[in-house]
Amino acid sequence: MHPAPSRRSLILGAGAAVCATSLGNVSAAGAPAPSGASAAADPSVTPLGSTLLDRTALYFVSYDGLVNNNAFQKNGLLTVGGHQYAVWYAGDRNATVARRALGDDTWETVTVGHTLTINDSHNVICAGVSADGRLHLVMDAHSSGYFYVKSVPGLVSSPDDHAWTGDAFGPVQRSLDGVTLTSTMTYPQFVVSPSGALQLSYRTGVSGNGQAALAEYDAGTDRWTNLGAWSSATGTYTTGYGSSGARNLYLHGLDYGRDGTLHVFGTWREQSTAVTCGANLTNHDTVYVRSTDRGRTWTNAAGSVVGRTGSGTLVGVSSPGLIADPLSPDHALMNQESQAVDSAGRPHALISYVPGRFGQCVTDYVAGRIAYARPFHVWRNASGTWQKTEVPFAMNSSQRSQLLLDASDNAYVVMPYGRIAAASAASGWSDWTMLFDDDLNAFGEIVPDYHRVAVDGVLSFLYQESSSGTTPSPLHVIDFQLPT
Ligand SMILES: *[C@@H]1O[C@H](CO)[C@@H](O)[C@H](O)[C@H]1NC(C)=O
Ligand SMILES: *[C@@H]1O[C@H](CO)[C@@H](O)[C@H](O)[C@H]1NC(C)=O
Ligand SMILES: *[C@@H]1O[C@H](CO)[C@@H](O)[C@H](O)[C@H]1NC(C)=O
Ligand SMILES: *[C@@H]1O[C@H](CO)[C@@H](O)[C@H](O)[C@H]1NC(C)=O
Ligand SMILES: *[C@@H]1O[C@H](CO)[C@@H](O)[C@H](O)[C@H]1NC(C)=O
Repeated sequence: MHPAPSRRSLILGAGAAVCATSLGNVSAAGAPAPSGASAAADPSVTPLGSTLLDRTALYFVSYDGLVNNNAFQKNGLLTVGGHQYAVWYAGDRNATVARRALGDDTWETVTVGHTLTINDSHNVICAGVSADGRLHLVMDAHSSGYFYVKSVPGLVSSPDDHAWTGDAFGPVQRSLDGVTLTSTMTYPQFVVSPSGALQLSYRTGVSGNGQAALAEYDAGTDRWTNLGAWSSATGTYTTGYGSSGARNLYLHGLDYGRDGTLHVFGTWREQSTAVTCGANLTNHDTVYVRSTDRGRTWTNAAGSVVGRTGSGTLVGVSSPGLIADPLSPDHALMNQESQAVDSAGRPHALISYVPGRFGQCVTDYVAGRIAYARPFHVWRNASGTWQKTEVPFAMNSSQRSQLLLDASDNAYVVMPYGRIAAASAASGWSDWTMLFDDDLNAFGEIVPDYHRVAVDGVLSFLYQESSSGTTPSPLHVIDFQLPT
């Protein structure tokens, strides 16, 4: 999600020895190029080929999704240094991790001693890397306890010094080295803070009554700390139809910009369907908060404090100035879709819902989305105005799209089934075109590598082929060169 190498090296602790960016603006003679001369490449994708991770990956459809292909898996595919890492459940339910050198077609795979406990597509594996070069996995949780595995130090930062075997991973734990966090975890996601700490974002509670929370790993002391919850489940939300007294905030992601600001978009989900026209899912509004102190203090876009993590003051449905794009619960708005931060620190979100021209009351969330949902690109311009453009392609799916930016801040939206639409930064992200729509036989949602674009300009994503029942199916990683 962070196109420029400087941003990536800022937020990745280990092995993020990405080369300096200033070279891009230097001409062949060594003199600085005229301002803007190296920018403004048009968006393009050049297919580089694909590799097979697993011929028989675990397959079952639950909550309209697959356990190996969920947008909220941050990260399911991850580049650090010169290697890429992938996580998934194999057909025998084994949690599996693979690595390859960038540009290589051969993956080394290893199982880490855990098998998926339940057929629930929420229970994804997510991977993160700390500054001591450890690979961390949190997995198999849905409003429940979770499973945690931590590698030896140096596994990721010095890959050539470590064989890719089970010995490189520690025991499967039910806490973070003794720090329990919660007995009701969902949506673990890793992000590296500008200070180099590995942060774990998670939800406590349940759908419609839960809180966003953070924990943090310090590689210097090899210790986890729970920072606590930062969003509130309480307060009253009222529409013309009725009221709801509890909710949860779903995050589109957590991304640090080049200046160290943490950006988070989200949607609320209400506990009570009394707030809808008869719709059976209660997501509403696209909200935005940020933090300039690594997730301790949260402000709205205008800079007013709206919450402090682990305190009595939490980001809530009535907090002022949060709404980037208002939408009632009647339009089948997707939760946890996607977000990015550009080179100028402007936040971007990719959201999707059924626009009003197709009706004002979507009663069946899944069927309504398949028939009518459209993606929208939402971003905040330098004067502080929220902008929104419809990405002019039907979703033809109930599932999520993913947003990534290249080195020129051109936007790429990987839609369900792996179709890639793009728009140029030069046009103000208005000239959307479809660049790739080959039939991959992908189930739907894909899992992108948010980190690789900044390393070598390659858009890489993981997808699983469609199957039936519980018949395992092939899992692939496909690569496309973007302009650099
Ligand atoms: C998982 O992997 C381990 C180690 O390779 C193996 O012993 C086991 O049979 C596999 N399957 C299950 C279901 O545990
Ligand atoms: C919404 O309603 C449809 C049609 O009755 C049903 O098939 C679907 O399971 C419902 N979805 C949810 C999330 O309740
Ligand atoms: C931001 O958008 C507003 C509304 O469209 C516009 O008036 C303003 O000029 C824009 N600012 C920039 C820096 O583009
Ligand atoms: C929508 O998706 C389905 C399933 O992949 C496919 O069969 C159908 O052709 C698609 N329709 C359009 C208009 O793309
Ligand atoms: C879970 O999925 C496996 C196949 O992956 C299947 O054998 C099993 O019956 C499923 N269990 C349930 C409760 O659906």
